[in-house]
Amino acid sequence: MKAKTKYVCTACGYESAKWMGRCPGCDGWNTLEEEIVRTEKATRAVSTLRAKPTTLSQVDVADYSRITCGISELDRVLGGGVVRGSLVLVGGDPGIGKSTLLLQLATKLDKQATLFYVSGEESEKQLKMRSDRLSDEAPEFMVLSETDITAVSAALNEIHPDILIVDSIQTMYHPDISSAPGSVSQVREATLTLMRYAKENGTAVFIVGHVTKDGSIAGPKVLEHMVDCVLYFEGERNHSYRILRAVKNRFGSTNEIGVFEMTDHGLCEVENPSMMLLEGRPDEAPGSAVVCTLEGTRPMLAEIQALVSPTSFGVPRRMATGIDYNRVNLMIAVLEKRVGLNMQNQDTYVNIVGGIRLDEPAVDLALALAIASAFRNRPIDTSVVAIGEVGLTGELRAVNQIERRISEAKKLGFKACLIPQANTKNLKVPQGMKILPAKNLTDALGYIL
Ligand code: TYD
Ligand code: MG
Repeated sequence: MKAKTKYVCTACGYESAKWMGRCPGCDGWNTLEEEIVRTEKATRAVSTLRAKPTTLSQVDVADYSRITCGISELDRVLGGGVVRGSLVLVGGDPGIGKSTLLLQLATKLDKQATLFYVSGEESEKQLKMRSDRLSDEAPEFMVLSETDITAVSAALNEIHPDILIVDSIQTMYHPDISSAPGSVSQVREATLTLMRYAKENGTAVFIVGHVTKDGSIAGPKVLEHMVDCVLYFEGERNHSYRILRAVKNRFGSTNEIGVFEMTDHGLCEVENPSMMLLEGRPDEAPGSAVVCTLEGTRPMLAEIQALVSPTSFGVPRRMATGIDYNRVNLMIAVLEKRVGLNMQNQDTYVNIVGGIRLDEPAVDLALALAIASAFRNRPIDTSVVAIGEVGLTGELRAVNQIERRISEAKKLGFKACLIPQANTKNLKVPQGMKILPAKNLTDALGYIL
């Protein structure tokens, strides 16, 4: 029997049996979305699970145990393995390596758990070919090439997997909804179906979602609040490094990142990202500064490069890759006003090496130093790491976890750390590391340029 559908306005909740371009409730255009009308029985299937209130201490969490994936970078991002009964959304640009990551995960877990890999994008043959390329083993997990979510449900009820992988949510459709696969209603319906299955059976579900151009996962972020974890897989197409970042995690911290490298046989974990990011750093080149940034609990050294050249005509050009454009403009303004560098007729380009993104305020100092070094055409000593937030008056502000950052710099063979004066209180300095404390940007520049 075909399920009944209705159209609901996403803005005001107005319901209608037919689709309309303009909502009579709120006069909004194009706000009506198709939804399946749930019979009372279907709604109750979920609610009976939570019929009785209990004291929190009596809640049994045994079902919510974690399964460790065996890919330590992924486990770290998930907060120590995937939680049973949870939904994990893996988002990212097409071609970034989402399918590869999940296929590798499936291969790793093959012996420990019942796994079910549903692909709406590739045939079983294509999956097999990809799997053969990724590893020498012949994994035994179940695969299905299917886009009808009701067929997936039926298969699930036969297999009862511990872990389900759905690649991708945008290809799934419910036959009772007339809108195209990938539309908000289809995506939401498919996710709801999977969520219901996951919560009732304690299956951990990984959902792949492609990101649209504007950066949101298709289906205007609908998915993000339905699922328990949102992981973004990011990286530059032309670089082989990939970063897995938790944007939302109901079972762990959202600060963690996992670093991978895409090779001929799939993704490899990168245990020492600092080494990888500093590889091939030029000696004595103006415009290069090294910072130690903290991603979650993990310190990471990165190189910031700047190029400053006279503007040929009109307004100076400014460009930033891997770092906030406005932050770059702000640092240029501070350098002009507080340090007295005349950059009004200079084009400035900033790039973070390795295709990663730095969003922390602690990178300000290194950014300012890189720009100043490029402007004055004098190199920064390659054995110095600069850490610190720069305020609008040019003052250096303390950053968190400075000791961790310093010890990471030490590990990578750096000899000196330029840090805010405010950070030197009770500071334990590892042997062989020199600390250069600075109160403001001018002091900091005095040390190295
Ligand atoms: P894929 O996992 O298909 O991306 P997504 O599912 O996110 O769309 O990754 C595809 C890219 O990865 C493709 O450009 C080729 C590259 N790749 C490798 O470099 N090595 C490999 O072993 C595999 C399987 C893919
Ligand atoms: Mg894919």
